[in-house]
Amino acid sequence: MYQTILTVLENGIFTITINRPDKLNALNAMVLTELEQAVDEVHNNPEVRSAIITGSGPKAFVAGADISEFVGLDKDAAMVLAKRGQDIYFKIENSKKPIVAAVNGFALGGGCELAMACHFRLCSENAKFGQPEVNLGLIPGYGGTQRLTHLVGKGKSMELQMTAHIVDANEALQLGLVNHVTTAESLLERTKDILTIIQSKAPIAVGKVIECVNVAVVSDSAYTNGKSGFDKEIEAFGECFGTEDMKEGTTAFMEKRKANFKGR
Ligand code: COA
Repeated sequence: MYQTILTVLENGIFTITINRPDKLNALNAMVLTELEQAVDEVHNNPEVRSAIITGSGPKAFVAGADISEFVGLDKDAAMVLAKRGQDIYFKIENSKKPIVAAVNGFALGGGCELAMACHFRLCSENAKFGQPEVNLGLIPGYGGTQRLTHLVGKGKSMELQMTAHIVDANEALQLGLVNHVTTAESLLERTKDILTIIQSKAPIAVGKVIECVNVAVVSDSAYTNGKSGFDKEIEAFGECFGTEDMKEGTTAFMEKRKANFKGR
């Protein structure tokens, strides 16, 4: 049983809620550990088809890494912490099942980085995004310098990180940080509607989209094992042809009926 997160599995959608509302869901060591375990459940539980990450309470998605745990960390310990955060976020980003952030308030520092590690983001009208680490004499450490740049472009990324500017929901939409803005009340339902559409598609093909888009976004050895995005796409395209679902999908098209995908 988790102590700092809540999980619910319903209709194949696994909702992970970071649950420290009195601390605006700040990520302490226990939250990170439990978040990793929950992401492992997404990977390993065949009943889970997709996931949502959100925050508890009306104010925050996640207001950052728990700053109180930074006290007394030296360079080596800070590097260990950043590596740990990055590894967990890579697990999210490299999940073959879609993981979407439903951002319901502050998504600052490690919270913004968590949202950016998800495959895409929806947010409520009261959402606020930012990488305010320079206010603390820090920089983002959980992948934010990279992922913000991929999402909004180099110039905006530089400005946002250097000024610590907090971005509201409409600006986030304009920047491409989020795909949709909803009312707070409809955020989870809208996110689930999109995941329900995705869950009706061929699971292996959806997983390959994630793999290929990750490579397109950044040709980095963390993703590619030295391959280019185009090489990766050719390989993944070929692999789809070895699946039952590809045969089912193409056959169903030709027979003018709905495909029945099995994830094989
Ligand atoms: N780490 C640890 N505790 C945090 C936190 C964080 N990142 N963000 C918020 N909290 C705690 C506050 O210390 C406070 O705890 P307390 O009630 O025991 O004093 C509680 O959460 C509520 O936050 P508070 O600051 O009172 O709310 P607010 O509405 O006045 O301000 C924020 C909200 C988000 C603007 C403000 O909390 C903030 O700036 N947080 C830090 C954001 C940040 O720099 N994140 C990057 C970290 S690397």
